[in-house]
Amino acid sequence: MRYRSPRGTQDILPELQPYWQHVIKSADDIASIYNYKKIDTPMFEDTDLYLRGVGEGTDIVEKEMYTFLDRGGDSLTLRPEGTASICRAYIEHGMHTLPQPVRLYYIAPAFRYERPQRGRFRQHHQFGLEAIGDASPIIDAEIIELAYRYLYIAGVSKMQFMINNIGDKKCRPMFINALLEFYEKKLDEVCGDCKERYRKNPLRLLDCKRIDYSCQQMIDNSPHTIDYLCSECDEHWKRLLTYLDRLDIDYIINPRLVRGLDYYTKTVFEVHPQESGSQTALLGGGRYDGLMEEIGSRSVPGIGFGSGIERIVNQLQNNKSYVVDDLTVDAVMIHIGLMASLEVIKIASNLRKEGLRIVIAPDGRSLRGQMRYAESINALYVVIIGQNELDLNIAQVKNMNDGTQKPFSINDLSKTSFSNFDSIN
Ligand code: HAM
Repeated sequence: MRYRSPRGTQDILPELQPYWQHVIKSADDIASIYNYKKIDTPMFEDTDLYLRGVGEGTDIVEKEMYTFLDRGGDSLTLRPEGTASICRAYIEHGMHTLPQPVRLYYIAPAFRYERPQRGRFRQHHQFGLEAIGDASPIIDAEIIELAYRYLYIAGVSKMQFMINNIGDKKCRPMFINALLEFYEKKLDEVCGDCKERYRKNPLRLLDCKRIDYSCQQMIDNSPHTIDYLCSECDEHWKRLLTYLDRLDIDYIINPRLVRGLDYYTKTVFEVHPQESGSQTALLGGGRYDGLMEEIGSRSVPGIGFGSGIERIVNQLQNNKSYVVDDLTVDAVMIHIGLMASLEVIKIASNLRKEGLRIVIAPDGRSLRGQMRYAESINALYVVIIGQNELDLNIAQVKNMNDGTQKPFSINDLSKTSFSNFDSIN
């Protein structure tokens, strides 16, 4: 093979498309029920938007962005995530003048130069959703319930819904101090990445996955963000939990949950498949009350999530929880000779206008060869026209299920010929 799809990307082949369409339809449906409106933004943005928005100390910005200079010398970056673009669009289009919160959603590809592995791609697709302009925990509850329902109607019923509160710019410094103090004495026991995180982005210490150093033990014993919340964050947290209980949402409070992007404040959440040990989230999100200011607006609160479509499709395939309709062909047109082909091309055209799924058998094959072709694509009926049929101005219609065959006048062949086939003598 001379060319393959670039590493970490995949072709979504026709047999996978029904899964994709089902997941995308679930996303569109759930967004509509909660009154979120669709938005599309460009596939690339000014690099600076992500530096400021996602944060310079994050893996995404440090290691994963597809950044390039265009011919005019501007630095652009392929979208690694959706939230920064949506906030940029909110500011650019003066959406603060609309009724708040502004509820938006998107289904779009994202690009990250990651080490490809199962469920981790360099181009993936996200269903993302943002509510901008409301600081109340009632919106957090709405979004978390929506996320839960989305996964449920898409067909993921067994999931672990984890939440945490990581404080805001007032109280987080207190927590970071406590965390640094806790790690300080045992820094030589943790992995190299954690030493780096200690210096650059301490909150991410809690996200280390290495098991060959003492990192896991350190995380298990480290202080918890929720014990350091200021009164505002604490009230937000408690009200959110009350709402979630009221909605009967099954959540796990996970003090290790900190997320990989810098913009989060207060509520963060992630959903993982139920199989233990799974490190690939099906969905992740949280509140980002400081992001708008970071990218040059007045302060506007926001909350949202992103969910990888590849990962949901993969779950559905693994769990066989969603059975794909085998898209059957209503009829295959079988034709022997040029004159017959002139008839079937017209009949096919008319039947398609009526909405039937029609395929014309490949030209130049024998009757048997064309029949075999019809079987191979699971046709429900075949329509056969050869010289005999032309002489009588008829077409033979054969039910491929039970083998019954009946003649129809070529001029009368229509959708009802198939729907009434069994009752016609
Ligand atoms: P994220 O956690 O980086 O958050 O990504 C959201 C989801 O996208 C993940 O939970 C996962 O399902 C999927 N995903 C991420 N990276 C990959 C990958 N390399 N391959 C396959 N799937 C992947 C965000 O992007 C935030 N913008 C979410 C958000 C919206 N927060 C607030 N609003």
